[in-house]
Amino acid sequence: MENIIIFDTTLRDGEQVPGCQLNTTEKMEVAKALESLGVDVIEAGFPVSSPGDFNSVVEISKVISAPVVCALTRSVKNDIDIAAESLQYAKRKRIHTGIGTSDFHIRYKFNSTQEEILERAIAATKYAKKYVEDVEFYCEDAGRTDNVYLARVVEAVIKAGATVVNIPDTTGYCLPNQFGEKITYLIDNVPNIHKATLSVHCHNDLGLATANAIAAIQHGARQVETTINGIGERAGNTAMEEIAMILKCHPSLGFDTHIVTPKIYSISRSVSNLMNMPIQHNKAIVGRNAFAHSSGIHQDGVLKNKESYEIMDPKVVGIDENSILLTARSGRAALKHRLAILGVKTDNKKIDSIYEHFLQLADKKREISDDDVLMLAGIQHSKQQKIKLNYLRVISGKDVIPEAKIGISISGKTFEGKSSGNGPVDAAIKALKSILRKEMVLQEFVIQSINRGSDDVGKVHMQVLYNGKVYYGFGANTDIVVASLEAYIDAINKFKK
Ligand code: KIV
Ligand code: ZN
Repeated sequence: MENIIIFDTTLRDGEQVPGCQLNTTEKMEVAKALESLGVDVIEAGFPVSSPGDFNSVVEISKVISAPVVCALTRSVKNDIDIAAESLQYAKRKRIHTGIGTSDFHIRYKFNSTQEEILERAIAATKYAKKYVEDVEFYCEDAGRTDNVYLARVVEAVIKAGATVVNIPDTTGYCLPNQFGEKITYLIDNVPNIHKATLSVHCHNDLGLATANAIAAIQHGARQVETTINGIGERAGNTAMEEIAMILKCHPSLGFDTHIVTPKIYSISRSVSNLMNMPIQHNKAIVGRNAFAHSSGIHQDGVLKNKESYEIMDPKVVGIDENSILLTARSGRAALKHRLAILGVKTDNKKIDSIYEHFLQLADKKREISDDDVLMLAGIQHSKQQKIKLNYLRVISGKDVIPEAKIGISISGKTFEGKSSGNGPVDAAIKALKSILRKEMVLQEFVIQSINRGSDDVGKVHMQVLYNGKVYYGFGANTDIVVASLEAYIDAINKFKK
């Protein structure tokens, strides 16, 4: 079996998604989970983009031992200087530099020419090489770049010292056969190609990110850039769990990865929870329905022989079907154990506080699922908010004008407000606005239930426009009006002046 290098970009491409931003502590938590999952390279951020990103790369570099820690740059000297500085503590480090190579990028983004871009690519690679031995070069929009020119750039950057060359399908445009042929073309037409590892970075705009990455592997790529749950710009990136399991389920392909597959489920849940990014129910490998057999024919077949309808054992990806559901009678130890299985680290103080919320929820719901537990752990992450909801009372129903009365505290000082509205959520938000008096507009409002049943927890995702910027908020409660107001307040707490 030949190893395929897994380059994880959850903390860079994944984190670029609006609403998915993590603080440094959360990023370190994800990075450590990625290390124990067995990824080979962790792209920890784009250090020049913000002091927060720079700091995250510094701190991740300090705590990661086995995987290579990588920092992204443009083909700009200052980006490379800053990336090198952010990687100073990394045991194994890589600078990932690059530039757009398609005509779209050359003409419209850079107002430049192929020759000039080629020179910039060579210069950036040589400059990064002054700092680190391991330099990866990306040819942005390689999917739409003319193969003849792409081959020239690849040859030149390898000559300049690139150890890895990344061929991204930035816009997710290619078909698997076209993308595979692009890789074959490079292998056949770049004389020094054997001196570097060929990497692919596929986006999912047409739902082909994983298929394109697999086609590329079959044609000679040996590194794949992935994210947990396939999160990433727009429709996302190739999903790590899909690549790992495709290669495992098809040994005849002759490839394997270092991924410790029983850890897939817990990291998938914890990334979804930390980044407030729900996993679609029918998502391959990690979706709630991925192993659920609902039709009678399927259930009958699975009971007779699992393999009739299951191509992989859920345990191989860490889904424990016999997991004990937690109830109001479960103790702290059971809760702590479940959190550990789900990849959430807790100390005694934190567990006490999660347990308090757990009991309140267990009072309202008979059984507490994994998603509920993660939601409760998530509440802890957002505890330090400036504005807090103290109480909410609403009148609503058929033939009444909905009204809401709320009490909030802002940095410890209490305020009250009331309003009517065209529904209970509208009334509650107007009551909040009567206190805050800010010009803000609710742009997106999604209510999602975690499990099933009328006693379920509702998760609310909101986007609020303020001062020309969109802020993301999240709330979860068995009362969806409370969850909605909390999501709104969560977004306001992120406002920058
Ligand atoms: O999609 C892309 O092209 C990228 C590069 C920066 C690698 O994310
Ligand atoms: Zn990308």
